[in-house]
Amino acid sequence: MTAEPKADGAHRAPLQQMQIQVGIITISDRASAGDYKDLGGPALKETAQNAGWQVLAEAIVPDDTTRIQETLRSFSKQGCGLILTTGGTGIGPRDVTPEAIRAIMRVELPGFGEVMRAESMKITSNAILSRNLAAVVDGSLVIALPGKPNGAVECLGFVEGAIPHGVAVAQGTPTSC
Ligand code: MTE
Repeated sequence: MTAEPKADGAHRAPLQQMQIQVGIITISDRASAGDYKDLGGPALKETAQNAGWQVLAEAIVPDDTTRIQETLRSFSKQGCGLILTTGGTGIGPRDVTPEAIRAIMRVELPGFGEVMRAESMKITSNAILSRNLAAVVDGSLVIALPGKPNGAVECLGFVEGAIPHGVAVAQGTPTSC
């Protein structure tokens, strides 16, 4: 007798009902100085709310390692199980988002970056220029997305399915896979 195939996620129903509290950080010298309007943060906020998540905290910070790390830690302390960042993942001289996260993370989740880049390459070959990643920082799942609003939303969509379980495991909530 063959086992009944299960739809993806069918066994994870309790996690799907888990309320996810989200922090959103736009990382950009120019947006933080008010030189241009932040579009990435609001685009991610709309996407998070459409997913049924609660946006608890938002910030715009410059491409500065200390400011990025302080904001991540503060959002985690405030109860954000998921922290989304947008910007600073490229190869510009001020792009320090991956280094800032890696210096304070407990573990990196390489699959997130791999999937985001591979799927994004089907949309734009510039996707290979993003060092986007996911990591666990102080019990929060942190996902670093590219700075372009469309790119950030696209990348989030590629990994969204793994987020409820990822947040639960990062928080140390006992769960079965
Ligand atoms: N990924 C997707 N899905 N869509 C995009 O438009 N833009 C790319 C890349 N990843 C993009 C993307 C570009 S043009 C750059 S330079 C890098 O992300 C890094 O962007 P960042 O430095 O603003 O984070």
